[in-house]
Amino acid sequence: MPNIAVLTSGGDSPGMNAAVMSVARCANHLDMPLIGIKRGYNGLLGRSGKLEDDFVRLDLDTVLDIADLPGTYLRTARCTEFLDPAVRERAAQRLRDMDVSGLVVIGGNGSFQGAMRLCELGIPCIGIPGTIDNDLAYTEMTLGYDTAVNCCSDVVRAIRATSRSHDRPHVVEVMGRDCGDIALSTAAATGAEIVVVPEVKWSVDEVADKLNFQIKRGNTRATVVIAEGCWASMKPFDVYKFLKPYGKEVYEGEPMTAERLASVLKRKCGMIEVRSTVVGYTQRGASPTARDCIFAFEAGAMAVELLKKGISNQVIGMKNGKTFHMPIEKALAAKHTFNKKLFNTVNGF
Ligand code: F6P
Repeated sequence: MPNIAVLTSGGDSPGMNAAVMSVARCANHLDMPLIGIKRGYNGLLGRSGKLEDDFVRLDLDTVLDIADLPGTYLRTARCTEFLDPAVRERAAQRLRDMDVSGLVVIGGNGSFQGAMRLCELGIPCIGIPGTIDNDLAYTEMTLGYDTAVNCCSDVVRAIRATSRSHDRPHVVEVMGRDCGDIALSTAAATGAEIVVVPEVKWSVDEVADKLNFQIKRGNTRATVVIAEGCWASMKPFDVYKFLKPYGKEVYEGEPMTAERLASVLKRKCGMIEVRSTVVGYTQRGASPTARDCIFAFEAGAMAVELLKKGISNQVIGMKNGKTFHMPIEKALAAKHTFNKKLFNTVNGF
């Protein structure tokens, strides 16, 4: 039987290992030898210079051991070189030389673009959405998103306990790149009073007004959940001009941050203290939830079945709770829809 191969690419996401395990299990059932490519497209290009560091045989025993671990056993990388057609042709030739008849790419937007280009070069590819950001519009869920939301919700719950104890508001920043889904879901899951996302224009004064509204109603420990990409949709605010007179260490032209927003809110809301926390990489390296693992399991099996049937140039997703597949190009053209109704419900207007 010809080989099939699998790689993980872009930011790692919880559930990637479970997907690799599922691919391996299914390939094993169907007697299709499986090759793991390390560090995404970089491995294909032989970046490490050592064959054994770029490719690995994925026997069942190995993958069964890693299935429920966070991170990605295959390692991952972002490969900007892959934008170059000549580089992609080299990668395709490598796969032909290794007699690879199909490639499973687990990653996000950029990784799928690479897979689509490899398909054009005659390499059958299937994409599995692996990113905590949930920024792939064609699917209801991406591997790692549920884990990230659960991790951030745990953090916010803990923060709300200490906020309650001290009667002070808190700004919590979560990841998501240009997508506010992690922030919105985390806010809804924890009863946070204010959420700020890249999809909706906002101003510092509006957030201060909302916080003041909470304070007037007797809630002096509200949580403001912000998405890391929210600064792009913030109306201009001169943080230097505002904070400098208070002796804060801020230099002209420096950007707004969660910490600075907390500092501004403290002054605009007349609070003694407003604290801030950036959840950061803990949400990406968390142990995958069962929900993410189940999706990974279904997606991995579907990817191998499709390749076995000679179907390629597809991505796997979830629609109405069911795993499905569709052409990569169409999936990438889908427009992101943001849940404005939930956003309004959290923000209370
Ligand atoms: O795409 C996943 C993600 O974790 C984003 O939420 C975040 O903006 C980015 O990756 C961070 O990337 P890096 O690992 O390169 O710092």
